[in-house]
Amino acid sequence: MNLRAALTERFVRAFDAAGVEDAAPLLRPAGRPEFGDYQANGAMAAAKRAGRNPRGLAEAVVAALQADGVDAVAERVEVAGPGFVNITLSPTFVAASLGAAGVERTQRPERIVVDYSSPNLAKEMHVGHLRSTIIGDAMARILEALGHQVIRQNHVGDWGTQFGMLLAHLADVGGGEGAGTDAAKLEDLEAFYAAARQRFDADAEFAGRARQMVVALQGGEAAARAHWQRFIELSLSHCRATYERLGVTLSDADLEPESRYNEDLPKVVADLSGLITVSEGAKCIFLDGFDVPMMVQKRDGGYLYATTDLASVRHRLQRYGATRICYFTDARQALHFKQLFAAVRLAGFVPPECSLEHLPFGTVMGADGRPFRTRDGGQVKLTALLDEAVQRASRVVGEKSPHLPPEEAAEVARVVGIGAVKYADLMRHRASDYVFDWDAMLSFDGNTAPYLQYAYARINSLFRRGGVESDAFSGKAPSIETGAERQLGVALLRFQETLEAAAAEALPHYLCGYLFGLAGAFSRFYETCPVLDAPAPVRESRLALCAITGETLRTGLGLLGIETAERM
Ligand code: ARG
Repeated sequence: MNLRAALTERFVRAFDAAGVEDAAPLLRPAGRPEFGDYQANGAMAAAKRAGRNPRGLAEAVVAALQADGVDAVAERVEVAGPGFVNITLSPTFVAASLGAAGVERTQRPERIVVDYSSPNLAKEMHVGHLRSTIIGDAMARILEALGHQVIRQNHVGDWGTQFGMLLAHLADVGGGEGAGTDAAKLEDLEAFYAAARQRFDADAEFAGRARQMVVALQGGEAAARAHWQRFIELSLSHCRATYERLGVTLSDADLEPESRYNEDLPKVVADLSGLITVSEGAKCIFLDGFDVPMMVQKRDGGYLYATTDLASVRHRLQRYGATRICYFTDARQALHFKQLFAAVRLAGFVPPECSLEHLPFGTVMGADGRPFRTRDGGQVKLTALLDEAVQRASRVVGEKSPHLPPEEAAEVARVVGIGAVKYADLMRHRASDYVFDWDAMLSFDGNTAPYLQYAYARINSLFRRGGVESDAFSGKAPSIETGAERQLGVALLRFQETLEAAAAEALPHYLCGYLFGLAGAFSRFYETCPVLDAPAPVRESRLALCAITGETLRTGLGLLGIETAERM
């Protein structure tokens, strides 16, 4: 049950009965426990619009709520301050609702394309690809859990200018096709890219050949294609290994690389002809409200990143019937997506009811306050980063859980290390930058993966000590007596509304904040309410609360793409 939505509906009815139609009750979790569980702030604005007294309206809303039988769910509803309405849920309602905990699937499933990770295959995956991969994967999992049909799209960059440069370099250093070309050199894609780039920048003749190579590649010339194919396969094998390591759900089936749209590009440009202006030989779309045009075909005939995206939008509608398309890329691509969306709307490629969303994220920063880099200023490769995460986690886990046998300790270190990196990326609003800080992300205190993973393991150990299976309690409604039990119960009931909000706004940090709050509510419960030592039937009821909490932590972390360990 989406508790917030259910309560909002009651409030809308109550506002209506109090003489305000179509009110926005503005119901949200209460800021402080003394304000109850939720507070509705909508009476002030509604009163202002209607020229009524805000407290008077709030009181009429409370009376209407009562007449509508709100006492089936709430033990207290009261007006506070200038016209807030505070509502405190009743223990019986909380207890009864908990029996049906778990993720509910939507009645209105959408077909949602999630475009994420999408690295450029010219380079090895580095820290710049971390955020799209992690945030996009969490969102894909959350949307799917809510019952939406998710179409993952890994729109890898395997086409364009950079490949001309790489292939021209490959042709020079490695020689012809089938020569077993420099697989060794390509092993280090990063170095290979750097060398090609340096030549491209320094040597005009090389740069010219690189450009010709792009045209040859895009024109389907056989030798260029063969070099390219080898290069891409190698680069993709790096990606696969990284996804596997990170526990990301992308597979080869989700690959729709830029090159896939090659044949569509002339058609797309032709279909856009009504919108195109030729400017200095290049085909451009001038859009209202933008200082710069969107270029769709260069003077030399070459196509651009934007052209491919135009083609991909159409494909996603025609092939997948997308009702929502979510792009997770960094904030610097904001202009590109604004223009893209404006152009496809104008061209009628997309029906108005299909939502197009660029969901940007900020930069990963180093301790020095500048984008995170290696000591010598290079890109931090993801494989190296993940190795270090697991190494550091094994130290932390060794201190915290010295009793674990070595094999299990190594597995826990993997789960904690990878989890810590992912969680640190997910826990803040995605649009903000964050500082990459090993000590903070691996801490067992605060809003971190290790803290939550440990909270989960502790609940499990409680069941082990009690000699009972937590499964025996799932789906059993507890009875709620104490304040701490009620608080924990309310926290558990907020899972669904949290997931739905995260899905609607594509903000997975809502789920992180929720899980952190839930773990806190559990600690307070556990400090004040004995569980194993409590007499029956209180013991069983509290064990049920523990079981639902453990289950919710595990499911919630799982939806963020973060694993748990049964003991730590
Ligand atoms: N390959 C691009 C990059 O590395 C990201 C692609 C995002 N997806 C898209 N449809 N444009 O920046």
